[in-house]
Amino acid sequence: MTDIPSQTEAALAAIAASATLDALEAQRLETLGKKGWVSLALKTLGGMNPEERTAAAPAIQSARAAIAEALDAKKAALEAAALEEQLARETIDLTLPAQAAPKGSVHPVSQVMDELAEIFADLGFAVATGPEIEDDWHNFTALNMDETHPARAMHDTFYFPDKTAEGKDVLLRTHTSPVQIRSMLDQGAPIRIIAPGRVYRSDSDATHTPMFHQVEGLVIDKDIHLGHLKWTLETFFKAFFEREDIVLRLRPSYFPFTEPSVEVDVGYSNEGGRRVVGGHGDAPGHAWMEIGGSGMVNARVLEFAGLDPAEWQGFAFGLGIDRIAMLKYGMNDLRAFFDGDPRWLAHYGFSPFDQPTLSAGVGARA
Ligand code: PHE
Repeated sequence: MTDIPSQTEAALAAIAASATLDALEAQRLETLGKKGWVSLALKTLGGMNPEERTAAAPAIQSARAAIAEALDAKKAALEAAALEEQLARETIDLTLPAQAAPKGSVHPVSQVMDELAEIFADLGFAVATGPEIEDDWHNFTALNMDETHPARAMHDTFYFPDKTAEGKDVLLRTHTSPVQIRSMLDQGAPIRIIAPGRVYRSDSDATHTPMFHQVEGLVIDKDIHLGHLKWTLETFFKAFFEREDIVLRLRPSYFPFTEPSVEVDVGYSNEGGRRVVGGHGDAPGHAWMEIGGSGMVNARVLEFAGLDPAEWQGFAFGLGIDRIAMLKYGMNDLRAFFDGDPRWLAHYGFSPFDQPTLSAGVGARA
């Protein structure tokens, strides 16, 4: 048996040289393990007489202490290094696109609503909202359609079985026009708002779905006239379709809540089987397409909304969002908008990075 100090020295060197926790464990077994030489040396003390023991014990005890301390220190160091290495190896770059996962997209209707808000904000319009579950007072009566008005029947309204506490009929709003009433009652005049949102009518074919989207516009101020309406819509459509040759035609019409009322048509042509907005509708190869209703707000409506028609007047319009989205982005079947088919959404949807801005173009795709 070699002497304990040199055996200790060799063990300490081997511990220091251990590169892995496994190698270190082997060193522990060789020294402090049940059959390790330190343990065996400690056992020999039992068979010694007191003098021999007093002479031999200190060397063995100090060897045990030194080796135990070295093992602990090395173990801590190796564990810390392993953690460092794991942390370095397992980093994830959260800025990378998730390529394997299916990508969601922004629905064209949502995108167009953002575009609308961006363009009208630039013209000084705020975005207003109202409930989709309405009462018949806001949806009809305050818009100058009393119970007997024939226009009520034309709206194919979805009614709920129950009435409000005040006995009003409850329905899914058939247009965004009730937001006119709510906004005027809330804010008074002057006012300049758009109100995009869902509306509902019991109607279904290739060009009609029971739920669709409108955007309402309302301007109430002093000395407002139809010229302001035409300029506003023209300015909007030029920005929306990103072309200067937008020609609008205002055609006399009837809505109970506007007087006079006009229907808005836009000139377009057919290019490769696709409707392309632009040009005069009476020009060769062109035609007119209806895109919304509008007019000067009826004095009766102002009264219902608590405004004095002698002091205030204004215009309102309602446009079909789905229809202008189809025109701008070249879709031809309205029903596909609401099928939720991932292939359609992947093709026509937008990236969240396609934020509409006036400076970069409201329709720019990233
Ligand atoms: N609310 C009408 C509709 O849904 C559109 C419209 C709005 C007409 C505002 C005039 C003024 O058909």
